[in-house]
Amino acid sequence: KCIYVLNGPNLNLLGTRQPEVYGHETLADVQQRLLERAAQLGFEIEFFQSNSEGDIIDKIHEARSRADGIIINPAAYSHTSVAILDALNTFEQPVIEVHISNIHRRESFRHHSFVSARAEGVIAGLGTKGYLLALEHFVDAGQ
Ligand code: DQA
Repeated sequence: KCIYVLNGPNLNLLGTRQPEVYGHETLADVQQRLLERAAQLGFEIEFFQSNSEGDIIDKIHEARSRADGIIINPAAYSHTSVAILDALNTFEQPVIEVHISNIHRRESFRHHSFVSARAEGVIAGLGTKGYLLALEHFVDAGQ
């Protein structure tokens, strides 16, 4: 089983970017933890980050023929991108949306995510652990 883990803009700066909001762990740390857990579970992980909307869309298109599920933190594009929602709607397997921070207790412009309409579940506010919880869900769901 292969799960694509997609990360949107500015998440490459995780660990140094507003650590009071997003914590001290880097995206490489997150990737490492996911890879270790996936190996235990016999899952394959394709880990990806881009600051470009189009590159994220291209990766979702690639996932259409390769992935059994997507875990996506679209970052700021959550709140703006109909194009990422449309791309996810072409993907026929489950999608879980992850936010490191609790977007609902932050500025009102973060309260709405276009991607949530497509997501089987949304995990927000549990820090980087949210990615691992999403992976565990795929295991439990037999994806
Ligand atoms: C985020 C929340 C978004 O509002 C923000 O633009 C991000 C990260 C999160 O993981 O908490 O870049 O998706």
